Amino acid sequence: MQLSVIVPTFNESLNVRELVRRLEHAVSGIDAEVIFVDDSTDDTPAVIRSVASESALPVRLLHRDVSEGGLGGAVQAGLLMAEARACVIMDGDLQHPPEDVPTLFSRYLEGDADVVVASRYTGQGSSEGLSGLVRTLVSRLSTLVTKAMFPLRLRACSDPMTGFFLIDADAIDVRTLKPRGFKILLEILARQPLRVAEISFRFADRYAGDSKASVRQGLHFLIQLAALRFGKMSGFALIGALGALVNVGLVWLLTKLGTDYIVAAIIAAELTIIGNFFLAERFVFRELRHEAGSIGKRFAKSFSFNNAEAVVRIPLMALLVETWHISSVLATALTLIVAFFARFVFHALVVYAPPKARSAKKQARLDRIDEVVVAPGEL
Ligand code: GDD
Ligand code: MN
Repeated sequence: MQLSVIVPTFNESLNVRELVRRLEHAVSGIDAEVIFVDDSTDDTPAVIRSVASESALPVRLLHRDVSEGGLGGAVQAGLLMAEARACVIMDGDLQHPPEDVPTLFSRYLEGDADVVVASRYTGQGSSEGLSGLVRTLVSRLSTLVTKAMFPLRLRACSDPMTGFFLIDADAIDVRTLKPRGFKILLEILARQPLRVAEISFRFADRYAGDSKASVRQGLHFLIQLAALRFGKMSGFALIGALGALVNVGLVWLLTKLGTDYIVAAIIAAELTIIGNFFLAERFVFRELRHEAGSIGKRFAKSFSFNNAEAVVRIPLMALLVETWHISSVLATALTLIVAFFARFVFHALVVYAPPKARSAKKQARLDRIDEVVVAPGEL
């Protein structure tokens, strides 16, 4: 067996027949099997059995009565059943075009990748199948934050949230995965250093039925992120909170010494920005700084971003109070929270941006460091 195609399904009875039909055409010439891991409450399993009896492809079905781990758990169960080493994971609603499966496979056959990601955010890829502006924005934003939290592990991956990829099952320890909810690729990439390649694909419209994504899934995702890497972001948050206290203390001290309060506020803010930079250098981005630009450049970027952010934040706060009629305390809190994420993303992706190309030896060293850094946050 050359290729196992794993399809998690939850109430997709109207989609599986068309999916297998298109897959059959797409993978002709490849020795492939299809594995459905099904948690449905409708007649999907019966449809799968009927399709299996007619298809030229070997179609296997695992129906789970208890849907442990949701979508991610289903993928894990499928990986454990797979006959082939090369496993493609794809959705059962045809949002992932079966015609891209051979492209994933031939990219894998080039031999230099453990994971081949089908990305919406590279080359000719697109995410037009995402329903609505809100969903698109959420997807973009969570991709950005996730990449910022794992700048090394996700460097080569433009779409860590995709559900469409090929994995070499021998490159990972499937049993130790602890998938929660939808983001199985993120779980795989964050846990161990892997060689990642990408192809682009167009995320299509759902063929039939409704999406199972929900606010609950979103929450799951946040917990997953926090669990995978709580260490880094919380360190950054802690420094920010300390900085805020120092800021207030300095304003108090300076005004007590007779400085005008506007001048005091500016001096305190700048001193805090500088202090925070050095603390973050030392405690948060330590393992990234040797590979990033010089300290002068890093400081210049960080310093100008923080000043620009402060300049934008204050009028934005005023605007919120004026137009939304919320209290100034709430407006301050809201803008500070948004500013915190913006600052974190900017530092991880821009200030400490790793250079594009790197030797294999350096890469191996960085991956080792990243592994150590990731360790304390793991569940
Ligand atoms: N076995 C099983 N168990 N399958 C599930 C479950 C579950 O609990 N929940 C969802 N699925 C199946 C669906 O039947 C479908 O085949 C696939 O997982 C994706 O679910 P959708 O409901 O179609 O999700 P989506 O289209 O909103 O999300 C997709 O796109 C995201 C990117 O924006 C998925 O591919 C996500 O993984 C991806 O992150
Ligand atoms: Mn879908």
